[in-house]
Amino acid sequence: MSYLLGVHTSTRGEDSWSTKLLDEFESQFLAAHEGTELRRRFTSDIPHLSFEEQRAGRTPIASQSDADRKAFVFANELTDELIGASALVIATPMYNWGPPSSLKAWIDRVINVKTFYDNSEALADLPVTFIIASGGFYSEGENAQYDHLRPLLRECFTRIGVKDQVFINCDPAGPLDRGMVAPDAPDSAYVKALGQIPAAVQRQR
Ligand SMILES: Cc1cc2nc3c(=O)[nH]c(=O)nc-3n(C[C@H](O)[C@H](O)[C@H](O)COP(=O)(O)O)c2cc1C
Repeated sequence: MSYLLGVHTSTRGEDSWSTKLLDEFESQFLAAHEGTELRRRFTSDIPHLSFEEQRAGRTPIASQSDADRKAFVFANELTDELIGASALVIATPMYNWGPPSSLKAWIDRVINVKTFYDNSEALADLPVTFIIASGGFYSEGENAQYDHLRPLLRECFTRIGVKDQVFINCDPAGPLDRGMVAPDAPDSAYVKALGQIPAAVQRQR
């Protein structure tokens, strides 16, 4: 069964702009691709890599010891979930100019012997959409030089062979949180991000 994998990271629940946009992305995606299912992965539940996991993720499968195989179980599950998806959407805030550490913990597990060190083509045709919310305006203009989130995501996914990457930017979200801009105002960051969803959901492998 083909499925959309939705990875989300914000712990703000219903207040989260990236999660609201993810909900919208998912419902438009499922409407556009009949028969496709949805899988969600919440990165907040993912711990930092242990030493045993680091070693296992860099050891070729055929050379893994029993201890490596055991330590690789969770990364293997996340990696197979990624490789099996017909599209991936990641919804994330910017935290201190980069990703939340829980998203980094997910990335540190899916870049491994199966995806990077093996030079696999398994992700070459996977469409990936990043939905990014940040308090300030970082997707363009003067502040873009301080944005380490989009360059990091672009590099990580390029390194594991992903060619189709689309960024949906919800910034600046700070004025929405402070009630200075109504979410449905025509020039709000939220409305601008919503406008990018219909084209992005058409992509499926
Ligand atoms: C720990 C932390 C760090 C943050 N760092 C930044 C930052 O570097 N730049 C920025 O523009 N906003 C920053 N913010 C604000 C969030 O990016 C903003 O609230 C965003 O809307 C959160 O995403 P969400 O609405 O999906 O929960 C930070 C918020 C937190 C809690």
